[in-house]
Amino acid sequence: MWALLSPTVLNAALHTTQFWDGRAADLEEQAKGPIVNPIEMAIPDHDFAVARIASIPEYVARFAAAFPEAPEVTYVNIAHAIAAFERTLMTPDRFDDFLRGDVNALSEQEKAGLQVFINQGCAGCHIGPALGGTMLTRFGVVEAYWEATRDFVTPGTPTIPMDVGRFAVTHDPADLYVFKVPSLRNITRTYPYFHDGLVWGLRDATQVMARVQLGREISETDMDNLMAFYQALEGEVPAHALVIPVLPASTEQTPRPSNR
Ligand code: HEC
Repeated sequence: MWALLSPTVLNAALHTTQFWDGRAADLEEQAKGPIVNPIEMAIPDHDFAVARIASIPEYVARFAAAFPEAPEVTYVNIAHAIAAFERTLMTPDRFDDFLRGDVNALSEQEKAGLQVFINQGCAGCHIGPALGGTMLTRFGVVEAYWEATRDFVTPGTPTIPMDVGRFAVTHDPADLYVFKVPSLRNITRTYPYFHDGLVWGLRDATQVMARVQLGREISETDMDNLMAFYQALEGEVPAHALVIPVLPASTEQTPRPSNR
């Protein structure tokens, strides 16, 4: 598992599979992973995380209010709380308005881009309300992806090892190089692209897609239109997500990891 690029949490609630290799089904399951992952938050174990949160009186009170039927701080409730917050991180955009029937929400060029997106077959994988996030497919249907992205490796930097994708989770040969189809909402802002973050330009990433997934090359005009369409997917980040929260006060009893 070498996937390096952190996917955005914006709109993650619309995805029916989480992580690049789809190893979590929903936000709750996803949230339980990084806290104890040695290369992410490296908390020693679940009990340690629970003890730390439970040592902070304001959290104890807030958990009791939020989960009246099971008012303790538990690892499951921590995951529920994080997931509930993530479900507020939606970025409505002009494409939503268009789908709701406002045909003037997209410019003529953006509509032409949507047409390219459908006609070229992109919508076969980037489907659903997030234009992705709902399935896992092979990256490199007609050609190995590392051939098509080779030119984007910065000379002199160590090359990123080839990632086997979902195979690392299932060990099923059918899952070799299978990755989550990412959402295209806010795609103009979520560079660099692909699970390894190798490609920084959206035109380049789109051309790689057409080549390795569909065996096609997108013309300059079609590409201009696609780029315009992507702009209709730029949503508004909710104001509360842009404010740094004031954290509740900790106490003398707040545990510190003793193993570091
Ligand atoms: C067979 C399924 C499939 C088709 C068809 C397909 N894609 Fe993708 N797309 C994927 C997968 C899988 C990835 C993630 C690859 C990776 O990084 O491992 C992806 C990644 C992307 C990315 C990068 C997203 C990111 O956040 O890194 C863009 C942009 C994209 N696709 C656009 C398109 C466009 C435009 C088309 C049509 C020309 C298209 N895709 C066709 C499956 C598909």
